[in-house]
Amino acid sequence: MEKKCALITGGRRGIGFGIALELAKHNYRVIITGKTDASSAKAEIEKAGGECLAYSADISKKEDRLELFNKINSAVPRLDVLVNNAGIAPKVRADILEATEESFDELISVNLKGPYFLTQLFANRMIEKKKKEKDYSPVIVNISSVSSFASSTNRGDYCISKAGISMMTKLYADRLSEFGIPVFEIQPGIIATDMTSGVKAKYDKMISDGVFPIKRWGVPEDIARTVLAIAGGCLPYSTGQVLHVDGGFHLRRL
Ligand SMILES: NC(=O)c1ccc[n+]([C@@H]2O[C@H](COP(=O)([O-])OP(=O)(O)OC[C@H]3O[C@@H](n4cnc5c(N)ncnc54)[C@H](OP(=O)(O)O)[C@@H]3O)[C@@H](O)[C@H]2O)c1
Repeated sequence: MEKKCALITGGRRGIGFGIALELAKHNYRVIITGKTDASSAKAEIEKAGGECLAYSADISKKEDRLELFNKINSAVPRLDVLVNNAGIAPKVRADILEATEESFDELISVNLKGPYFLTQLFANRMIEKKKKEKDYSPVIVNISSVSSFASSTNRGDYCISKAGISMMTKLYADRLSEFGIPVFEIQPGIIATDMTSGVKAKYDKMISDGVFPIKRWGVPEDIARTVLAIAGGCLPYSTGQVLHVDGGFHLRRL
């Protein structure tokens, strides 16, 4: 049987790499991207016995998204899993009373516009294939954040971009439901990657203070195993579903 194929944007490192490695170990052919060269991550996945293609593309740029889409269509017969994972934090955490438009534009372009229009490209392709191949069951997974709902006034641009991903998930889940293409959102909590390395002391303290019901840092594998469950069809009567992978942070407590 042909291997299923998964594209993980930002699969070059961090959460995306964790997802790619997990899927590759479970017999998916994975396609990883980075803004920069992803060949060393590809080599690592191959060393672990996985099959991997790697491309670099700036997801915020229309021409890069189109080029990536065309390359993938030439390289693989069909895409079974699209994971919109690539994203950035603001270069500087700045109070919303002072934060710059430049940072806002950058965050929205990379974290929201990029995945929104990349999904449009692949969703149309999935619809075409789905009409012809009855056994084809593609799925889309968006990586948002607890910042979709939790206010951080020192990075409003990030929060708004991630809240946008939550609405994007609902919109595509709704629109693609008639074609049998489910769309899911994973809201990670605090995950140990390059993105959080600069604020490690702050989160170490929050974890020891009990802000997170499960008292540990999240790791990329936590997200990866959730993606694996979704991709493997473990949620057959759901779409638009939000999966909290945040150590219980989303719970309200009295
Ligand atoms: N870490 C957390 O605690 C946390 C929590 C909640 C949500 N998230 C979300 O999870 C996702 C992954 O986060 P992470 O912690 O793994 O981040 P990371 O370690 O900083 O990795 C980010 C990945 O995104 C890629 N990327 C950045 N800008 C891009 C662009 N313009 N075009 C294409 N790719 C681009 C990077 O490419 P290069 O490697 O080439 O730079 C990298 O591979 C993000 O969407 C993030 O917002 C993270």
